[in-house]
Amino acid sequence: MVNVSSLLDLGYLVSATLFIFGIKMLSSPKTAPKGNMYGAVGMLVAVLVTVLKMQLSEGGIEGWMWILLGLGIGSAIGYWMATTVEMTGMPELVALFNGFGGAASALVALSEGIRVYTSDNYVIAEPIYQVYHLIPVLAIGASALVGWMTLTGSLIAMFKLKGGFTIPFTKKWIRFPTWGPSWLNYVKAGLFVAGLVMIIMSLNDPGNLNLIYGIVILSCVLGILFVLPIGGADMPVVVSLLNSLSGIAAAFTGFVVGNTVLIIAGSMVGAAGLILTFIMCKAMNRELFDVLFKAFGGTTKESLTRTKVGSDPEEVAMVLDGISKCIIVPGYGMAVSQSQHLVKEFADLLEENDVDVSYAIHPVAGRMPGHMNVLLAEANVPYEKLIEMDEINSEFGECDVALVIGANDTVNPAARTGEGPLGGMPIIDADKAGVVVIIKRSLSVGYAGVDNDLFYEDKTMMLFGDGKKMMAELNSAFKEL
Ligand code: TAP
Repeated sequence: MVNVSSLLDLGYLVSATLFIFGIKMLSSPKTAPKGNMYGAVGMLVAVLVTVLKMQLSEGGIEGWMWILLGLGIGSAIGYWMATTVEMTGMPELVALFNGFGGAASALVALSEGIRVYTSDNYVIAEPIYQVYHLIPVLAIGASALVGWMTLTGSLIAMFKLKGGFTIPFTKKWIRFPTWGPSWLNYVKAGLFVAGLVMIIMSLNDPGNLNLIYGIVILSCVLGILFVLPIGGADMPVVVSLLNSLSGIAAAFTGFVVGNTVLIIAGSMVGAAGLILTFIMCKAMNRELFDVLFKAFGGTTKESLTRTKVGSDPEEVAMVLDGISKCIIVPGYGMAVSQSQHLVKEFADLLEENDVDVSYAIHPVAGRMPGHMNVLLAEANVPYEKLIEMDEINSEFGECDVALVIGANDTVNPAARTGEGPLGGMPIIDADKAGVVVIIKRSLSVGYAGVDNDLFYEDKTMMLFGDGKKMMAELNSAFKEL
């Protein structure tokens, strides 16, 4: 007779396979939506199998009501948040969800710890704790150390991305501080070592809940202190690292509750997040160590002293007449103004006039990895037109016009000096094009707070105004030529 438990384990295998294929598909914008769906179905299978396994185990599930209530409330809040969030608020939402992931894992590990440690004879009652005594005890401590740090670190990252927060019931906006004297690194190292020591102590004294609570408090403080000194430009690295940590916390929790699929899924998120972290570091020419311990990329804004006379859409349209190559450089302002559809219309108009049009994509343009790809894919821009920075930079020499829409830091030549918050970050070589047209509302600085020499160059035409409005006017002016 077929063993039901083995059949259910097969369900875990199906779900792990779906995760692996899903994550593989996420590597291309073309297959990403399908990959996302595979991941979601994999998670549904994993949840169903786990619930069935628990129901079939001795005593079954106690408190169905609580599970259903949690599922209902969680789904409703998740649905509401995902459907109401503005595209520009997405990075904050991702940061928050990373934190929730870490907290969920840490809470499961903590409740399992409390349940086991407070039962009179937990070693005898729980076979897994008898045989692999050390592993779950170690995992409870490790999950607490990583999970709570992920929660508090992600909350700080979220407020930093937002730039601040409003005090509840008032309209007072508080700017979020970036604070990190160099001695803080010793405090962080001390807290981390103390956490490790407490985990080791818990191995000798596994029933001592005070040690676990100690790790929770220490980890919460560590998360805050880790993210607080990291400023502006380096936030992409932090968000992907926190994403990785949320996966690692889940994998540790998988060891606590003895759930294979949680270990697999957690490890995959941990590894994928870590790979993304290194891609982000490379894209910004930063060492991970420097990002975490040297408080680069502060958020102090440079004051502006120079002026520049703006151009009008008709003037720009005339410059575009008869050109043969145009490269569009999108940035965060395109996301804010939601002008991607008009940008696509602009490209279509040029292509109808035999202009070669492509898009230069900087790895950290916008506020989240792949931000520009997502927006342009939504506007039906063909994937092959989106060209990565390293590949397209050599083409700017032969480019007649570079149209920069809402990008600033990613085209700021100050990065080439190696100094300041942008120092060393590779940029899109828009300044090497024959004419540079920049659409933004003012001369103000970008995310890293650094003034941009490109705005003041003679060959640069500034189109001051909201991205959507200016693109619409530029398209009409071009049509009227
Ligand atoms: P930014 O340097 O942030 O500049 C965006 C520009 O868009 C601003 O200078 C702003 O100028 C303009 N803008 C805002 N609203 C606009 C609107 N409605 N219409 C037209 N323009 C508008 O953008 P970027 O070049 O994309 O660089 C991204 C920066 O964000 C990098 O420093 C990066 O490190 C950081 N970052 C990235 C991520 C990820 S993962 N991508 C995450 C966090 C931080 P005006 O105010 O004058 O209009």
